Amino acid sequence: MRLPTVHCRQFEGKGSQGKKSQIIYDSEIVGPDCEQFFDREWLARHCDRCAPKRGQAVLFSNGDGEFVYKRYHRGGLPGRMVKRSYWYHDLDETRMWREFHLLDRMRSLDLPVPRPVAARCEKLSPLTYGGELVTEKIPDSQSLTEMLSRAPLPAEAWSKVGRAIAGFHRQRVYHADLNASNILLTRAGEVFLVDFDKSEIREKLTARAALANLQRLHRSLCKLRRRLPVFHFAEDDWRALRSGYDAAVAAG
Ligand SMILES: Nc1ncnc2c1ncn2[C@@H]1O[C@H](COP(=O)(O)OP(=O)(O)O)[C@@H](O)[C@H]1O
Ligand SMILES: [Mg+2]
Repeated sequence: MRLPTVHCRQFEGKGSQGKKSQIIYDSEIVGPDCEQFFDREWLARHCDRCAPKRGQAVLFSNGDGEFVYKRYHRGGLPGRMVKRSYWYHDLDETRMWREFHLLDRMRSLDLPVPRPVAARCEKLSPLTYGGELVTEKIPDSQSLTEMLSRAPLPAEAWSKVGRAIAGFHRQRVYHADLNASNILLTRAGEVFLVDFDKSEIREKLTARAALANLQRLHRSLCKLRRRLPVFHFAEDDWRALRSGYDAAVAAG
């Protein structure tokens, strides 16, 4: 069993409609009442702007804190059923527990990721589960997708994104879905990565796996350029990202 960090607490929650649920939270930030974050009505009252839509991250505030809520789902192609259940094997192996602990571990390695706040795993049937994760909002941040649909980025910013990715690779982190929406840039120019579902710290991160991460990001940028009416991405930008990445890898 993976040992939770000292400030992580776990308890059996009430769950919705009589379902059994387990909750994990960071007791330095919230208390056991964080269970309310997973209540649809509570969330709708505390979220920014809109009511939570399915398959979308929700920004909400509680006291002085600002948080981001996401529900795990698979599939989700437009018009298709969004499936929210997974086969249950062991709590530590659930998507939300893995992502919660991975974020915690990456933060202890000083990697720029959001702080995990709470997660819930709900047994949907004896063999299946679903769940949610809440993280601390990265203040003053926008995703690369949002930024590039407004204005181009200077080469230095692209290079910084490359250096940030290299920092993760140096710690053997494999990001399972490195795309432009999972890269956040703050107003102060810091780069954060989010959305570590199915990601992992590998015993050894091969050059091939690292390259697969970069290629996925490149494909995502090209796809957005094709699909969005305005999207500032040119091959020179990619070269700037690669040179930042390569320099950071070489500096080791
Ligand atoms: N901690 C965070 N702080 C600020 N924005 C976030 C945070 N986590 C997610 N987001 C925003 O919400 C979007 C969706 O969250 P993400 O974790 O990527 O879930 P999904 O599985 O829906 O892609 C991200 O692209 C990012 O723009
Ligand atoms: Mg995402």
